[in-house]
Amino acid sequence: MKPADASAQKSPVAFSSLGQRAQPPTIAKLMAMALETPNLLSLAAGFTDNATLPVDFVRVATEAMLGNPGDREFLQYGTNQGRPRLRQQLAERLAKIELGLDATELQRGLFITNGSQQALYLAMQVLADPGDIILVDRPSYFVFLEMLSGLGLRAVSMPVDAEGKIDAPALGTLLDGLASNGEAQRIKAVYFVSYFSNPSARSLDEAEKNAIAGMLSSRGLLIPVVEDAAYRELYYSEAPAARSVLSLPTWRDFPKLYTATLTKPFATGLKIGYGLCTDEAWLKKMLHVKGHHDFGSANFNQAILEHALTTGNYDGELARIRPAYERKMRALHEALVHEGLPAAGWTWAAPSGGLYLWLEAPATLETGLDSAFCRACLDAGVLYVPGELCFGDQPAKNFIRLSFGVLGERDLAEAGRRFVTVVKRFV
Ligand SMILES: Cc1ncc(COP(=O)(O)O)c(C=O)c1O
Repeated sequence: MKPADASAQKSPVAFSSLGQRAQPPTIAKLMAMALETPNLLSLAAGFTDNATLPVDFVRVATEAMLGNPGDREFLQYGTNQGRPRLRQQLAERLAKIELGLDATELQRGLFITNGSQQALYLAMQVLADPGDIILVDRPSYFVFLEMLSGLGLRAVSMPVDAEGKIDAPALGTLLDGLASNGEAQRIKAVYFVSYFSNPSARSLDEAEKNAIAGMLSSRGLLIPVVEDAAYRELYYSEAPAARSVLSLPTWRDFPKLYTATLTKPFATGLKIGYGLCTDEAWLKKMLHVKGHHDFGSANFNQAILEHALTTGNYDGELARIRPAYERKMRALHEALVHEGLPAAGWTWAAPSGGLYLWLEAPATLETGLDSAFCRACLDAGVLYVPGELCFGDQPAKNFIRLSFGVLGERDLAEAGRRFVTVVKRFV
């Protein structure tokens, strides 16, 4: 569903093709719905937990940073690629989990962005022209999918099996089909969210990542790969075992961009993320365009995060929020079970990390923003993200994403109760 941009139709301003394609982001619409509906409990926005935000640390860090009148550089412009010390810290952190990678080498390809969202946008902007194809996971991150459509790009989903795993033979068939239509040259990149995905909460295992690499390389398609690891650090008790494309040998010959963020694990309001690119030419192009966007992300915010990493407060925050998110996930999951959602034919899996539950309703139930079910949920005071937004093509109509990031445990239980009450009216 695309919300209409009525003001553009009435305006005397002549828009570029990019401007014409730009549509109000669905996330803004969901937020507006949340604000317009009193007493609504929103399970829609992917916000993080308010109660555990590192308020005290940020206050103390700011005082420490500005305490010495000589230390003024934090309040100056920084560099386009980002603070060298922060880049070094992030590269060292990654080298600890991706054994065999050299931190100095990683630092060279690492650039700080205005949230990892900006790294994703830069990547697409420099790689693809309108009409080009981006292979995406199924389901995929809906803000990324909307970005693709804003850029005039075509998302083509990589097929999955009944368990949601990459279906390698079907992917091969899809690629062969594109080749026989003369479209292989239009495939400009492959994108997937690999850890505790938004929306599915699934992680790709190494076999799946290898299967994608194998299907592409056996057809000579050594196209750029973008691995979005936004939730990699948000596991509840055990770090995910799968290596990323950065160190998996099957991806060795591909140009790679790995994106990750400090917003979800620390504070979304600081909006600092990063990209790590293994291809020098691709990296340079993204940095040139970043220079056009902003010539550097907020230096002050980067410095706060640098301080958090140096003092160990970043890891302290992670240690605090991991169990908090697990408790919140359980609160919502158990409320849904207790209220009888499985008996109504809905299925989902309790995740071991991330911020989302991905629910499949019986095949005949439509859950889109304009559906009777969605309106009934709003009337009952609960909001979700319709799953149909999360498919690059052939959208399934009977999925929803519930986020347990923002609400407290009691509200999550109440939201679950309201949700199942509506579900029972639609059985
Ligand atoms: C999968 C995924 N990637 C990237 C982002 C962008 O996050 P940020 O720009 O805050 O780093 C998000 C945010 O929700 C996300 O869910």
